[in-house]
Amino acid sequence: MTTEQDFIFTASENTLPENASFTWKAPSNIALIKYWGKSKPQLPKNASISFTLDACYTQTTVEFTKSTNADITVYFEEQQKDDFKPKIQQFINRIKEYVPFITEYSMIVRTRNSFPHSSGIASSASGMAALALCMMSLEKTINPTISEDYFFQKASFLARLGSGSAARSIEGPLVVWGTHPEIKNSSDLFGEKFPHKVHENFHNFHDTILLVDKGEKQVSSTVGHNLMHNHPFAEQRFKQANKNLAKLSKVLQTGDLKSFIHIVESEALTLHAMMLTSDPYFILMKPNTLEIIQKIWKFRAETETNICFTLDAGANVHVLYPEKEKEICNKFIVNELIKYCQNQHYICDMVGFGAKQI
Ligand code: DP6
Repeated sequence: MTTEQDFIFTASENTLPENASFTWKAPSNIALIKYWGKSKPQLPKNASISFTLDACYTQTTVEFTKSTNADITVYFEEQQKDDFKPKIQQFINRIKEYVPFITEYSMIVRTRNSFPHSSGIASSASGMAALALCMMSLEKTINPTISEDYFFQKASFLARLGSGSAARSIEGPLVVWGTHPEIKNSSDLFGEKFPHKVHENFHNFHDTILLVDKGEKQVSSTVGHNLMHNHPFAEQRFKQANKNLAKLSKVLQTGDLKSFIHIVESEALTLHAMMLTSDPYFILMKPNTLEIIQKIWKFRAETETNICFTLDAGANVHVLYPEKEKEICNKFIVNELIKYCQNQHYICDMVGFGAKQI
């Protein structure tokens, strides 16, 4: 079994380059079975699985220069952005035990997202994944003997320490994070590609993201996760998520779209039910989130298409549908759903295959 120890860099005799620069593009992901509840250090209370996305990504360059003062400068979309520094600094502090050589460098981080900054789409998963990959490229330069598998596994391990869901933003098209008895090699420490052959019904699956509310969330994911401690339904929820993952694993292999819809929508609503029943309680859905859900249910009943929704920790709705039904579903979205989006904004995305070095 892989443990934390396996990720501690030990090749101490290797020389460190004076300068190095790496660029990675890492995708966002949308969870089908949700991660909500964790223990320290960033270990999930249940296993989760997500579709890796394609159009929504973060592209990050890290320029490393050997230096005695290990300072960080951050540029977001070409502008210096000091507000991003604490989060990156915290990430560096959490990972330096595993990549100690980074403390010998000052870093210039240049980052941008493919999606608008204030879109309500969290960039922490793609952002932390891209940063982790830049760190791993430096490790690979110092120690070229590491295998490709180790490179990506450790990138996921480091990304997880920045943001849990970032562990699932390295590879694609489906990634499991969290130990699960039915998923070989699954681990709480890093994401692992879904190990089984996926039925063609789920190839090129679409995700149209309806931007219902682009404002800052009133309750951050970190606060929300914490409210799962002492939550009256927490233990049941963690068990349920693991059961749902076992069911979904079969569904992904057999192509059973009806069961897929049932599991995925139930997961989305359960996630929000956990928020509604936290203490203090909170609601991240907006009236238009519910309008969209009702419209999707009505359209599905009328057309017998396999369109469904999922939600992340916010008001936006991810509308999921198979490649075969894209024309009819697209038409429905444009004609009936985008009116519920803020400034009619939405993003057409689909399942992708993971991060790429640029
Ligand atoms: C609802 O990964 O954003 O999107 O680990 O505190 O950074 P931290 O939380 P984060 O939580 C994501 C929660 C979710 C569900 C999911 O992606 O599985």
